[in-house]
Amino acid sequence: MKKIEDQRSKGRIFKKDSSFLKAEENVFDVPTLKLLYTFANKGIIGELGGSVSTGKEANVFYAAGNEGEVAVKIYRIHSSTFKAMDPYILKDPRFTHIRHSRKDIIFAWTQKEYQNLLRINRSGIRAPRPVTFDRNILVMEFMGKNGTAYPSLKDTKMDDEDARLFYDQIIENMRRMYVRASLVHADLSEYNILIDIEKAEAVIIDVGQAVTLNHPNARDFLARDIENIKRFFKKYGINEETKMILERIKQKKEEDTIIEPDPEDSAADTGENEETNKKETEEEE
Ligand SMILES: Nc1ncnc2c1ncn2[C@@H]1O[C@H](COP(=O)(O)OP(=O)(O)O)[C@@H](O)[C@H]1O
Ligand SMILES: [Mg+2]
Repeated sequence: MKKIEDQRSKGRIFKKDSSFLKAEENVFDVPTLKLLYTFANKGIIGELGGSVSTGKEANVFYAAGNEGEVAVKIYRIHSSTFKAMDPYILKDPRFTHIRHSRKDIIFAWTQKEYQNLLRINRSGIRAPRPVTFDRNILVMEFMGKNGTAYPSLKDTKMDDEDARLFYDQIIENMRRMYVRASLVHADLSEYNILIDIEKAEAVIIDVGQAVTLNHPNARDFLARDIENIKRFFKKYGINEETKMILERIKQKKEEDTIIEPDPEDSAADTGENEETNKKETEEEE
C-alpha cells in the first residue's frame, strides 16, 4: 500500500482534481490500484483524466495511452449493486459455470462486456473497440472528441428528420446484433446510445448485460429494448408496430456474415473447469 501511495503522490497516473479524488475513495481498492499501475506500465493508459461517469456499478474515466484515447471502465467490487447482474450472467450459456461470489461475478461481467464489444464490433456496428480487460477493469476506445464523450441520444437535439435517420440506424444495429452477433443488448435505451453528430452515427455502448440468443430470457430482453426505443422515438412522430420492428430485427440479408464466437469466448463456456469450480465453491461456503 505504501508503495502505491508513494507512486500516487508523484502524480504518475492520477490527476489531482477533487471529483477524481472523491470517486477514488469508493473505486480503488488495493488490487484495483495495482492493476491500474500494470496498465500504466504497459503504456495502455497514461495519466487518468477526469471522471466521465459514476454509475450504479462502474466508474468511467478518460485516459490517453499508446492505443490512443481510451475509456477506462472500473467495476466497483464493494459498492456495486452486483446482485442485479445475476440474471444476465448466470443464465448466459457462456457463463453458467462461474462461481457465484461477488468478485467472481464482477470479473466475469467485465470479461463478458469485453467479449460482447468484440462481437458487436465485428458485426459492423459502431461501438467502442475493446482494448483489454483484467479483473474488474475494461479498457476500450474512447467515443468522443477532445476528451469529451459524445452526447447520449437523450441529450441530442434533433428534428424529426434526424430522428428518423437515427431510428433506422438503431434498428439496423439491433438487427446486426441479433442476426450477425447472436446477441440481444438487454439494456438498450436513449442512455446507452451515444451520437457522433459529425458523422451522424449512433454508437452503441454499455454491453455488459448483453446476452446470447440462447439465454432463456433473450426474447423478453429484446421486447423490452424495442419498447424503450419505440417510447423514445414516439415524440418524433415515429410509431412503427412492434411486430414490424421485430420482423426487421430478425431479417437475414445477403450481405450478412455470422460472427462465430471468439476462441476466447469459450473460456468460460467449455465446462472444462466445472469440477474445479464446484470444488472451490464448496470450499468457500
Ligand atoms: N467508450 C466510451 N467512450 C466515451 N464515453 C463512454 C464510454 N463508455 C462509457 N462512456 C460514458 O460513461 C457513461 C456510463 O457508461 P456505461 O457503459 O453506460 O456505464 P453504466 O453501466 O454506468 O451506465 C456513458 O453514458 C458515457 O457517457
Ligand atoms: Mg449506461
